[in-house]
Amino acid sequence: MSNGIEFAHVPVMVDEIVAAFVGIPAGVIMDGTLGGGGHSEALLDADERISILGVDRDAAALASASQRLARFSGRFRASHRRFDDVDGAMADAGVTELSGALFDLGVSSHQFDAVERGFSYRASAPLDMRMDARDPVSARDLVNESDETELVRILREYADERFAVRIARAIIAARPVEDTVRLADIVAAAIPAPARRRGGHPAKRTFQALRIAVNAELDVLPVALDHAIGRTVKGGRIAVLSYHSGEDRIVKERFRFHSTGGCQCPSHLPCGCGAERTVKLLRVASKPSVAEMERNPRSTSARLRVAEVI
Ligand SMILES: C[S@@+](CC[C@H](N)C(=O)[O-])C[C@H]1O[C@@H](n2cnc3c(N)ncnc32)[C@H](O)[C@@H]1O
Repeated sequence: MSNGIEFAHVPVMVDEIVAAFVGIPAGVIMDGTLGGGGHSEALLDADERISILGVDRDAAALASASQRLARFSGRFRASHRRFDDVDGAMADAGVTELSGALFDLGVSSHQFDAVERGFSYRASAPLDMRMDARDPVSARDLVNESDETELVRILREYADERFAVRIARAIIAARPVEDTVRLADIVAAAIPAPARRRGGHPAKRTFQALRIAVNAELDVLPVALDHAIGRTVKGGRIAVLSYHSGEDRIVKERFRFHSTGGCQCPSHLPCGCGAERTVKLLRVASKPSVAEMERNPRSTSARLRVAEVI
């Protein structure tokens, strides 16, 4: 619970996630993005041979999911960490190997709905956007202290924002900017009117970019995938749900690396470089069903990739 709001988050591609782990060796699945615990609950219900190590950097998510999963007491443990700290989370739970790992990237609906967290441009709140309140840098710091080059980089790299320079200059001219709605208004005014009328709220991309920067979301992802693959037993699986191209590119690249062992030998010749393949790819950028996208529009951008450790 936060701000009197129930932890509301509809998990995406639940049947596909459960199917992704069917047949894995009995043991522990690390749910690196526990959130409201929806995926974990489905996995615990589906296979009594598995238990869950639930990781989240958001204390509110852990508290809420721990309550939801209390009925599985002996089969659920929680760890308040960033998901790239796979070893730390395993040590918290006294686990030495994994049978699988799940990463359902991005923010939960709950984090958006909890106005005081500052993730949403729809309601006035202090600019924050930290998933973990212990982290030192908030959106307020980035917005008020980054120079133009850095703001432009964040907007382009994390949200493909076409008007990055205009937005960065408008933000710098308006400083100090402390409030979500004020930032949204500054961004909207910086975007030319015809573009403002297309593609949803004009501040959506800026907020996405700042959130990704504040939480270093794209920096921690490759590390997490490498470590999870390294700690998972043969036949175990890694499933990742991503929600934008920046995330999916990283998942694709790391899965490709592990499925080729980094081999770049010409495809028409036998491999002579000694590269060791550590996974095989089972699912490549699967999308939700049309019915799910209609039921839950947030699922529309989801892409699921699954790899099995070999
Ligand atoms: C999309 S939600 C997960 C929802 C969850 N699968 C469910 O069924 O309710 C993403 C969650 O992952 C957490 N998260 C995002 N990045 C993280 C990271 N690097 N380390 C740990 N938790 C992270 C967020 O705090 C959020 O609670």
